[in-house]
Amino acid sequence: MADEILGDALPPPVPSQEMRRRLASRRSAPAQSLAAPGPSDAELDQILRLGARTPDHGKLFPWRFVILSPEARARIAEALTPLAAHQPDPGKAAKTLMKLTAPPVTVLVISTPVVGHKVPVWEQQLSAGAVCMNLEHAANAFGYHASWITDWYSYEAEAAAMFGVRDGERIAGFIHMGTLEEAPLERPRPDMAALTSHLDQGI
Ligand SMILES: Cc1cc2nc3c(=O)[nH]c(=O)nc-3n(C[C@H](O)[C@H](O)[C@H](O)COP(=O)(O)O)c2cc1C
Repeated sequence: MADEILGDALPPPVPSQEMRRRLASRRSAPAQSLAAPGPSDAELDQILRLGARTPDHGKLFPWRFVILSPEARARIAEALTPLAAHQPDPGKAAKTLMKLTAPPVTVLVISTPVVGHKVPVWEQQLSAGAVCMNLEHAANAFGYHASWITDWYSYEAEAAAMFGVRDGERIAGFIHMGTLEEAPLERPRPDMAALTSHLDQGI
C-alpha cells in the first residue's frame, strides 16, 4: 500500500524492469471512453497522496485538488453548455463536455502559486504539472487508465469559477480515471535525437 512507502526508511532505487516497461508503454486514455470501475474512495486517497509526492521548490505545495463527483460534473456541464455557444467552434465545444461527464472519477488539479515569493511562479506552475503526471502514474499503478486534459472551460474565467477556481489560481488539469474496454491508441512519439543535444565543453 502507498502508506508503506511514505515512511522514513527510503530504500535505494532498485532497478525495475517492470517500472521501465510501464514507463515505456504508458499512454493516456481518451477521457470520453473512460468507464467504471474507477478508483474507490480509499484508492483515490492513496492516488492523491502519491500524486502530491512531487518536487516543489520552496515546499509551498502550490496546488490543490478538487474531487468532482459525477453529479457535480453533470451539473457543471449543463451550466457550461450556454458558454460553449460562444466558443470558436460551438458544436465541438459542446461535444467536448462529454469528456467531463463520462469518466467515473475526476480530480481537478488547481495551480495555486504564491505571487511575489522568491520561488518564481513558473516553477510553482511546473510543480502543478508534475502533480498531474504523478496522478496519472498513480492511477495506472492502481490498475486504472487516466487522462490529463484541460479543454476550453479551463481558460474561461466564468467557466473555471464553476469548478471553484479562485482569483490567482489556474487549472493545471482534469485528471480523469477509469477503465477502458480497449487499449488506448498509440500516438507518434518524439525523435529523441532531434530533441537532444550535448554540451560537453562549456562556452
Ligand atoms: C496540459 C495538458 C492539457 C491537455 N489538454 C487536452 C485537451 O484539452 N483536450 C484533449 O483532448 N487532450 C488534452 N491533453 C491530452 C493530450 O492531447 C494527449 O491526449 C496526451 O498528451 C497523450 O499523450 P500520452 O499518451 O503520452 O499520455 C492535454 C495534455 C496536457 C499535458
